[in-house]
Amino acid sequence: MTPDPVPTVRQLLAFYLEAGVDCALTEEPVNRLSDPDIIPAAPETTTPQPVRTIAAATPPVRVEAALAPEAAILSAREAARTAPTLEALRTLLENFDGCALKATATRLVFADGNPQARIMFVGEAPGREEDIEGLPFVGRSGKLLDRMIAAIGLDRASAYIANVIPWRPPGNRTPTPQETQICLPFIQRQIELVNPDVLVTLGNPSTQTLLSTREGIMKTRGRWSDYDTGTRVIRALATFHPAYLLRSPSYKRMAWQDLRSIAKALEQAKSP
Ligand code: URA
Repeated sequence: MTPDPVPTVRQLLAFYLEAGVDCALTEEPVNRLSDPDIIPAAPETTTPQPVRTIAAATPPVRVEAALAPEAAILSAREAARTAPTLEALRTLLENFDGCALKATATRLVFADGNPQARIMFVGEAPGREEDIEGLPFVGRSGKLLDRMIAAIGLDRASAYIANVIPWRPPGNRTPTPQETQICLPFIQRQIELVNPDVLVTLGNPSTQTLLSTREGIMKTRGRWSDYDTGTRVIRALATFHPAYLLRSPSYKRMAWQDLRSIAKALEQAKSP
């Protein structure tokens, strides 16, 4: 049997990129299974990098115990509560160090659209394009979201868009339950401050997290529920995530029904 040809570095990097690995955090690999206290150093710079570098020069460092998840969740709750405005909330998040995703993301992806909007869409977490631009839903699924919003006669100037998680998980991996819980108080406060008439959760993770359900999107989509901000009850509807619709276009018909239902609810909320 002839041995497999050894891949070139370029082929190897192309393979990593394809698999969603587009950044390296340290020079040396870290065996996370062998010593949980060793974590890579956070990138030093806070300047947005349009293109990620493949290797950071800093070796792994042993850090003093980072905030335990429970402590981070408590600190997130405390911090989020105190934000009187969206700008203050953004600044709080920029200075919040309780979520490890911040260290690997290029920048904070806070929100896009109109803070006075009557409708707010919430996705799961930023992807690569969003991480580079610092805006939610600007990649392929964002283009479809724009078309979905246009279908109800709105655009980014009349809608508000955010994510449960405001930092891109490395390689677009699924956020851990702890990361989600740490970020939850911030998106909850964001919803309270935007105070829309209608909240739309996009896809399973956002729906399950915000609408406190364990049911899957096939069951939850198209179903209205109440979202209590603490100061007001908002009508909330789950629909498919645009990334899912790109993969399964046959569900666009159901998404279209959801959009019609959303348009109707906005109309009703207008009339006293
Ligand atoms: N998917 C999301 O859930 N959010 C984004 O911002 C982009 C893709």
